[in-house]
Amino acid sequence: MVERTLSIIKPDAVQRNLVGEILTMIQKAGLKIVALKMLYLTKKQAEGFYKVHQDKPFFDSLTDFMSSGPIVVSVLEGENAIENYRKLMGATNPENAEEGTIRKKFALDIEKNSVHGSDSIENAKTEIAYFFNELEIVG
Ligand code: TYD
Repeated sequence: MVERTLSIIKPDAVQRNLVGEILTMIQKAGLKIVALKMLYLTKKQAEGFYKVHQDKPFFDSLTDFMSSGPIVVSVLEGENAIENYRKLMGATNPENAEEGTIRKKFALDIEKNSVHGSDSIENAKTEIAYFFNELEIVG
């Protein structure tokens, strides 16, 4: 099934000039970029995006980090895009990420783990709508 998923290149990766390399890995994996922009979240906007995690102990630190510098958000499209991008990202904790994954290659730790990807069809819809309107998505 052709799906869409939301990708975020997080502040740690943008700050280290890794946008090009990460987008190349995404494209080489066969995921098509159908929307793309760079922006700088406020703390409130980061809290809104991660509100499912609001009761977690890491929420305050995570939302500080996500609002600490620019991010690059994109919509990726393809067969099983959600699962395929999660595989390409690797495990949340880079210590557990497999070789060849974005997080194995670039993530600094469990928080500064370089990328985000939606984890379900329902969440992908909500997350895409958080950043893009239909006119900004091509294809
Ligand atoms: P989660 O949805 O569990 O992981 P994923 O990004 O792989 O879908 O967590 C969301 C983000 O929260 C995660 O990318 C980084 C941060 N986080 C922490 O900072 N500490 C933690 O212990 C966990 C589980 C997540």
